[in-house]
Amino acid sequence: MADAIFQPLVFPNLTVKNRIFRSNISGRFDNYDGSGTQTRINWELKFARGGVGAIISSFVPVALRGRILINYATIHEDSRIPFWRELGKQVHEHDCRFILQLSHGGRQRDLPGFEYPKGLSSTDKPEPLNGFECERMTKAQIKEAVDAFAQGARRAKEAGLDGVELHAANGYLFTQFLSSAINDREDEYGGPIENRARFLVEVIQAIRKEVGTGFHLQVKISSTEHNDALVPWEKPGNTIEDSVKVAKMAETAGANALHVSAGSTFPHPKNPAGDFPMDEYAKYYDAMISSGTRVFQNYTLFREGLGAKLFHSTWIRARGEVIEGINLPDAARIKQAVSIPVICTGGFQTASLIRSAIEQGKCDAVSIARPLVANNDLVKQFAAGADRPAIPCTYCNRCLLNVLENPLGCYDETRFGSRDEMIGQILSVFDPPPFR
Ligand SMILES: Cc1cc2nc3c(=O)[nH]c(=O)nc-3n(C[C@H](O)[C@H](O)[C@H](O)COP(=O)(O)O)c2cc1C
Ligand code: SF4
Repeated sequence: MADAIFQPLVFPNLTVKNRIFRSNISGRFDNYDGSGTQTRINWELKFARGGVGAIISSFVPVALRGRILINYATIHEDSRIPFWRELGKQVHEHDCRFILQLSHGGRQRDLPGFEYPKGLSSTDKPEPLNGFECERMTKAQIKEAVDAFAQGARRAKEAGLDGVELHAANGYLFTQFLSSAINDREDEYGGPIENRARFLVEVIQAIRKEVGTGFHLQVKISSTEHNDALVPWEKPGNTIEDSVKVAKMAETAGANALHVSAGSTFPHPKNPAGDFPMDEYAKYYDAMISSGTRVFQNYTLFREGLGAKLFHSTWIRARGEVIEGINLPDAARIKQAVSIPVICTGGFQTASLIRSAIEQGKCDAVSIARPLVANNDLVKQFAAGADRPAIPCTYCNRCLLNVLENPLGCYDETRFGSRDEMIGQILSVFDPPPFR
């Protein structure tokens, strides 16, 4: 019988050669102003060469005020189109598709730059853990954001890319509208889920108006929010029942696929599910100290000693036991409710598990981030018959905790012959350099 992993996935406007998508992941590889660099192209080509069917980009801001990190390439103006066109062209040379993630951080911003001290949100309440402050969006600002997404989609299409994904997961602006725990509006964008999903639906409709029906559009959602995972007095947020409704509304509005994730923040114990090594904590938190009113307090409380132990044990307890396939039960629920394909993210690196998930109809494809950072050629290893890579990703999350200060790559020294080998692997993203 043909291997389900290597069957093409056919969407109305896009065919992907296999069922493995590179999930959204990248580092601070670009210029301060959001113009793209050779380093980002090098990064994406690692995965295109490794055999994934499609790459879904990392967070690409549709507006400068929606940035979460400086040095991430943007798509907020037409001047960015040539960079994305070049990146797409080079990825296509490896028979790999490229889907751009249209994003807006809202109030959740790690290092947003100096231009906009406050983020925008559905609410004016600061984010509870880190105290990221924000301004409640007016209807005019909502309309502006809807238009920014539509223009972002047009630019991606003009750049010859294969589609766009709306980042409606993990605590960013769309989540801040969708979430029953965050959205406290009393107008038509707040209240029941039909109202909280209005912003997302308006964006999908505006994109369809701008680019027509012939361009791939998928939506990444947090199927279960677990908003009380770290701050127990917070509300739990959206359940899978809410998200099934969101998925159906997205399909009706014109989405071609859904991408299932979890968690009302990023990072979150459920995403990326794994460890949270406290010896790396400072590298993540010290870079953010000026970003949120509570970051300094959290930094001093949890950096070492009892505080660190408490934070770590809370994180692991909230994560639970399952890492690989953590979102499969939710993906299966959503798949039953919609007729468009469902892509599931979360820990995948075992071919037999992926194959059975597809064969049992729990999802149509999986997306992989960290295990592909650990083994860029994972898909080729599967094609050669391996069930699991010889040196798998350990889910240690050191890649995540280094991402604000250091180049993205695998930082688990135990996976390498030596520290020098690890450093060489991480720094290989700068080769080739922009100038010779
Ligand atoms: C360093 C890092 C950066 C990430 N950046 C993004 C992002 O920009 N957009 C997004 O939707 N998900 C992002 N993710 C989440 C991944 O795409 C993925 O869904 C998650 O890590 C679970 O998959 P995995 O177990 O295969 O890593 C990121 C994950 C990591 C570790
Ligand atoms: S640092 Fe390496 S092993 Fe650890 S989670 Fe990231 S990719 Fe996996």
